[in-house]
Parts: sequence; structure tokens; C-alpha cells
Amino acid sequence: MTLTILGIESSCDDTAAAVVRGTNVMSSIVYGQTALHADFGGVVPEIAARAHAEKIDHCVEEALDVAGITLDDIDGIAVTAGPGLIGGVLSGVMCAKGLAAATGKPLIGVNHLAGHALTPMLLKSVQFPYLMLLVSGGHCQFLIAHGHDQFTRIGGTIDDAPGEAFDKTARILGLGQPGGPAVQDAAATGDATRFKLPRPLMDRPGCDMSFSGLKTAMIRARDGVIVENQGLTKGDQADLAAAFQRAIADVLTEKTDRALTEYMSLSPAQPSFAIAGGVAANSEIRARLETLCADRGVIFSAPPLALCTDNAAMIAYAGGLRMQAGQLDDLKLSARPRWPLDDKTPAMLGSGKKGAKA
Ligand code: KG4
Ligand code: ZN
Repeated sequence: MTLTILGIESSCDDTAAAVVRGTNVMSSIVYGQTALHADFGGVVPEIAARAHAEKIDHCVEEALDVAGITLDDIDGIAVTAGPGLIGGVLSGVMCAKGLAAATGKPLIGVNHLAGHALTPMLLKSVQFPYLMLLVSGGHCQFLIAHGHDQFTRIGGTIDDAPGEAFDKTARILGLGQPGGPAVQDAAATGDATRFKLPRPLMDRPGCDMSFSGLKTAMIRARDGVIVENQGLTKGDQADLAAAFQRAIADVLTEKTDRALTEYMSLSPAQPSFAIAGGVAANSEIRARLETLCADRGVIFSAPPLALCTDNAAMIAYAGGLRMQAGQLDDLKLSARPRWPLDDKTPAMLGSGKKGAKA
């Protein structure tokens, strides 16, 4: 039977609701909060939680309207139950519980990271097992997806996520937010070889990464130019942005190469690699990883941006898979700020702009 699932997502700074029937995304509504947090240089948890609570009901109504259905037509209600900012996750969980209690429909708590990690399945572009790189403002990890609730994390950042590093670099260079697109634009005309930036953890085996040191190196390089030339020209900005983007691309490419080696040892029937998260929009990073996969004979898949970044369609889809497997929750479902996909790996250090790293 093809299930019709309402999905709800509110773990960070996007309030989202969607209706998914099987692999058909009937609606996917996202209310972003970028403007609300713009003055603070990062997501303010209290502001985020209040905005989610205000918007979530409208968002659900809109998702149902656009899909052309009512709550009666829904088979289950899937909601992000973590990891993320606790106030936001709670807003979604409370909304979903209210709907489940009022309608008697099943409630399904979904791991936000599982939502991202299963998006290539929603798009039917891969088969299990596939290798996944989740790379955004809050996440950076390599996962091998074996099944809808079976993931092995084989590496990740030990401090900042790359998106966070892009955002900080934009601030250091006086470019706009969000930093990723601004740095990418500036880098387009830059010389990536003028400044030498570190490639952290490259000399260590394994797939772990570190990006916080790059920020300090960027400040030092920028200040060096300012002292020497009494200011920063557009050309300097472009060269610094290009050097930074090249450093991130080099690290992600080398670590993906290692992750692919580990993944290939499983002898997958149809070797596949998928990337998701906002940083997957970066054209240099995407092109480097695509070339790497082509060289290694691995299928490369990158969801369209609207499904790469936070959305509720991925939550509805992941919820549908859980429901099919009989993995339902009840009104005791709780919000979990930390919820690793693979609980056999040790907790990661640090906490990004978007809360604890899972
Ligand atoms: O997935 P996302 O929308 O939210 C989460 O962090 O979960 O990712 C947002 C992040 C931001 O840090 C943004 O700067 C980065 O993705 N980003 C990019 C690009 N577009 C967005 N980073 C590098 N290059 C881009 N073109
Ligand atoms: Zn996310």
C-alpha cells in the first residue's frame, strides 16, 4: 500500500511541512528564518523556537492545501524528533502530537539526519548500500546507508561544519550572509594559489575533518594584506575567498576518496555516492566530487537544492519507511537535542551554529 504521510520539520531555522505519497512529493512548504537571525551572526535558539511555534500550524495547513488533501487522507504524521535546537524540535513534536491526538492517526518520530541521508532514495537515484556526505551549516559526516534505519558513520568534523566555516569566512572578508554563495561568487574571479592555507587533518589517517583552524588562518592572511597594503581590495578578497574554497574542496575530496575506499570494501552491487546539505550547492566542491566519483567508477548523485537543504519532504519520506516497517511512536515521543544516527560511534566534539553536532 502506498502511504500518504504528512511531514513536519523545525529542528533549526526552517519551519517546514510537506505531504509525500510513496516517492511523490505532493507539497513541500518551507518558511525560512534568515531575516530574523541576520543581525545576530547566527541562529538564536529562542527566536527560532518562537518563530516555529508561530508558523508551524499555517505551514501544515498550506502543505495540505497545496497537496489538495485534508488530514482525513493522511496515513501518518512524521515529525523531526531530533537532533537539533531543542526549542524548535519541541514546537514540531508538540504540533505533531496534537494532530495525532485529534485525528487518531499514527505518529512517527524521525531523525533529521536520517531524513537527509534517505533523500537519494526518495529521488530513486541510488540503491542500498550507498555512501553519503552530509555537508551543511550544522552537519558534516560520512555515512554508509545500509537500510532505512541502518547507518554507519565513518567520519565527520571534529569541530566546525564547512557551511559554518563559509559563513565565518564571509564575515572575515566583509561579504554578505549566507556566506557560502557570497564566498563562491567572490572566489569566481580569484587566484586560489596566492595564499597558502592549511589542509587540517590531511596527514592523519581516516575520514575525520576539522575546519575551525581555517578561520584563524583566514584572519591571519587577511590581516597580513591589510598591514602590507593598508586595506583590502576586491582582488584581495577574491584571492582569499578562492584560497579558502580550494582548501575546503581539497579536504572534502581527499576525505571522500578515503571514505569511498572504505565503502567499496563492502563490494556494493551498484557503487553510489550522494551528497546533501547546503554546501552541496557549491559548484567547485560538487565538480571535484563528481570528477572523483567518475574516476572511481561510482555513481554520483546530488539532490536538487530544495531537497538538499532542510525540508519536511525528507521527513515525510523517512517517516513513511518507518511506518512501513512498523516503527511507530506514541504520544510519549520526546524531543532529542542529540541523536546520532549511528550510536556505535563516539560523540563528536563541539557544537555548531545550529546546536549540538550529532
Ligand atoms: O543545509 P542548510 O540549508 O542548513 C543547515 O545548515 O542545515 O545549509 C546552509 C549552509 C550555510 O552555512 C551556507 O553558507 C552553506 O550551506 N551554503 C554554501 C553554498 N550555499 C549554501 N556553502 C558553500 N557554497 C555554496 N554555494
Ligand atoms: Zn539539516
